[in-house]
Amino acid sequence: MIDPVNQKRRRLFFGMLALPVSGLAATSDSTPGGSEGPFYPGPKMRYEDVDYDLVKIAGEVEQAGGEVVELAGRVLDRNGNPVAGARVEIWQCDVRGRYLHRGDFSLRSRDKAFQGFGHTVTGTDGRYGFRTIKPVPYPGRTPHIHVKVLLDNRERLTTQFYLADHPDNEHDWLYQRVPQHKRKLVTMNFITTEQVPRASLDIVL
Ligand SMILES: [Fe+2]
Repeated sequence: MIDPVNQKRRRLFFGMLALPVSGLAATSDSTPGGSEGPFYPGPKMRYEDVDYDLVKIAGEVEQAGGEVVELAGRVLDRNGNPVAGARVEIWQCDVRGRYLHRGDFSLRSRDKAFQGFGHTVTGTDGRYGFRTIKPVPYPGRTPHIHVKVLLDNRERLTTQFYLADHPDNEHDWLYQRVPQHKRKLVTMNFITTEQVPRASLDIVL
């Protein structure tokens, strides 16, 4: 059932994100794919709450640890047309470097206030948006957010988004596998706003 309070929050949130998005629309380059990695949480591993706000789990008082940020953009085709009805999923480790996944055997305890996985579905304008935490490094990896896009239940893209100019990028084997001229398509530039830092990144299918 659709929770009216949550729906209202979502409308406000997406209204808030309706600001200029960095100019990737002119390019016909598609967003490069990247490894899904071992920690994509299957439906049974997820919280019941799988909305766009990973920092707040429905019914919980606590907010996730970490630096709260917004990640938003549009899903476009290669002609720059918005793609409606695209399901955009993200997942990432919490501020302690632990994934919401049964296969994460690291000794780090999980931040139970972090949703770990979320999704949204684009409207006619192709927009997507998430409230989450700025990704942090964990052993062996530079900070990243995993992203998956599905259309009509068919997977169209799996990739990872990286932090601009993070010093670990140059040592990260997956980041290094992204062709240099395509890296801007998977790079998040967080800018300071009156609310929280915000990155705009279009996804081109
Ligand atoms: Fe990862």
